[in-house]
Amino acid sequence: MSRVTEIRYVGYGVKEFDAEKTYYSEVWGLEPVGEDQNNAWFKAQGHDEHHVVQLRRADENRVDVIALAADSRADVDSLRARVADAGCQIASEPADLTSPGGGYGFRFFSPDGLLFEVSSDVAKGSKRELAHWEGVPVKISHIVLHSPNHQEAVKFFCDVLGFKVSDWLGDFMCFLRCNSAHHRIAILPGPACLNHVAYDMLSVDDMMRGAHRLKIKGIDISWGPGRHTAGNNTFSYFVTPGGFVTEYTSELEEVDFDMHEFKVHKPAPMVMDQWGIGVGGPQTMPHPHVNPGLFKTPELAGEA
Ligand SMILES: [Fe+2]
Repeated sequence: MSRVTEIRYVGYGVKEFDAEKTYYSEVWGLEPVGEDQNNAWFKAQGHDEHHVVQLRRADENRVDVIALAADSRADVDSLRARVADAGCQIASEPADLTSPGGGYGFRFFSPDGLLFEVSSDVAKGSKRELAHWEGVPVKISHIVLHSPNHQEAVKFFCDVLGFKVSDWLGDFMCFLRCNSAHHRIAILPGPACLNHVAYDMLSVDDMMRGAHRLKIKGIDISWGPGRHTAGNNTFSYFVTPGGFVTEYTSELEEVDFDMHEFKVHKPAPMVMDQWGIGVGGPQTMPHPHVNPGLFKTPELAGEA
């Protein structure tokens, strides 16, 4: 079955365009790979994905688009058909993309109104071997979304986009995989919006060294460091100047995509964080609010 196989990038509209640019390049540890007056793109240095963050100068802070990968143009076409059959609004039909990295893709609004892109054949970017203690991201690990109909959203990601359930936390947080990583997307109840984007670090040491860089630049951990139970990954959460949450993570569990069977973890403090020594908690994270511009296409770069 044609399905989504990876996360590519997240596009944001930001009021604090310059501050957000500085955050991703000088603080978070991504590499700028293109810029014009109103847009900027950044890649993770440890992986050949063309870019992982797209920033757009905007008059409000919002998520513009979440880009997912499919393996071939035929898969893109077949996913377009499935998404339309599921009743989703197609925002742009499959075509050669004019955004940086090109490729072939289409865009649609999720049942909640967030804009998604599915693409294949995007140009590869540069990649280098990161060294222990560099403390910069290897790649995007996962994204977490809120949905006002989270059970329905889980069904949509599985039945339409081909994800599989890897674990539940109680009946409110679902972890979904699209490859051998335990999760690439997780879904929580709440208003339609992004909760956070996590970036893989080479090791726990690299997560801590990254946290050190943020600390000396004046940004403290909002929650962490800790280690979740679902996926067994370490975590440290930080808030960008624009109010978006980014996470350093490491050691996310690898599973068999076809065979892994999900468990239901009983929510408890030492399940949310098996270390129990960090600062903060879910209560110190920004409160989710509905993403502005649901079911509206932002003015993305490279489009007429
Ligand atoms: Fe996370």
